[in-house]
Amino acid sequence: MLQVLETIEREALDRLDDVESQEELVHWRREYLGRQSRLATVLGSLGTLPPEQRPGVGRLANRTKRHLLTSLDAKQATMRVQAGEQALDVTLPGQPAGSGRLHPITTTLRRMKAAFSQMGFQVFEGPDVESDEYNFTLLNFPPDHPARDSYDSFYTTRPGMLLRTHTSPGQVRVMQRLGAPVRAVIPGACYRYDQPDASHNIMFYQMEGLAVGANIRMTDLLGAISALAKMLFGDHSRLRFRGHYFPFTEPSVEVDLACTVCEGRGCRLCKNSGWVEIVPGGMVHPNVLQNGGIDPTRYSGFAFGAGVDRIAALWYRVPDIRYLYENDLRFLEQFG
Ligand code: DAH
Repeated sequence: MLQVLETIEREALDRLDDVESQEELVHWRREYLGRQSRLATVLGSLGTLPPEQRPGVGRLANRTKRHLLTSLDAKQATMRVQAGEQALDVTLPGQPAGSGRLHPITTTLRRMKAAFSQMGFQVFEGPDVESDEYNFTLLNFPPDHPARDSYDSFYTTRPGMLLRTHTSPGQVRVMQRLGAPVRAVIPGACYRYDQPDASHNIMFYQMEGLAVGANIRMTDLLGAISALAKMLFGDHSRLRFRGHYFPFTEPSVEVDLACTVCEGRGCRLCKNSGWVEIVPGGMVHPNVLQNGGIDPTRYSGFAFGAGVDRIAALWYRVPDIRYLYENDLRFLEQFG
């Protein structure tokens, strides 16, 4: 049986070489791949073979069939080119290259940087792979501090190194590098081993802010965040300030923006509360100023960590930040 199949294949391919017209091709197809072909008969009779022969013959018969089909396609393509049907027409217009556009996160980062630069902040960047020291210890999280648990961290195989869980380590880097007085924003990607949902992701963007000076007060922080909200969302945007806890600020606040997706009716993004946390912040803890090389008796400062993805979602009225990372052009092309 195996030999029969080999003969069929060899004969079919030889004959295919000689085919010169469409009629001959139709005929060839009927003869070697049609319902009455020898190959079809072999395939149809598999059930009558002794069980131990069936798999081997079946496999070879199917392989022969696939081979004949691809050879037929190739022959058809060659014949079409020979007939001039697919010749290259150099007078046809070229395919226009589609123009690209900015990703909504990039646009949001640019709008935020523009807003902060109007308030005198410069842009500074820190590394994505951080040391435990900058990510936690220098921010007033001692090695066994329980607040470390709330930052589900991706550690690397190098001891003491992790993917930064927030852009806050940039605060210490800015103070060490630029001294006081200073105003800087530090944008960047952050990573957490978190359960993704409409407002959380394992990778997201933050924009840290830091202002250190002789008489910086809490009202300066509230003023800067209110100004940001007005510049990004307009004069009628509504903010809510709540007390909170962070090891590196004292006192600390959480700032919520009234949800623009549902306008308070309740949705996934605001977890049906009508408010979305966008900018946690506070007064820089004296220990952190000291770790940055700044004398806390001479200077004070405020800091914040704006959630860029949530701000983008609120601006574009996207109900789930994960859409921003799916790279689905049908979604992304809606944003200019
Ligand atoms: N780093 C904090 C986080 O990701 C957010 C934050 C809170 C940043 C208070 C700050 C701040 O600068 O002052 O959860």
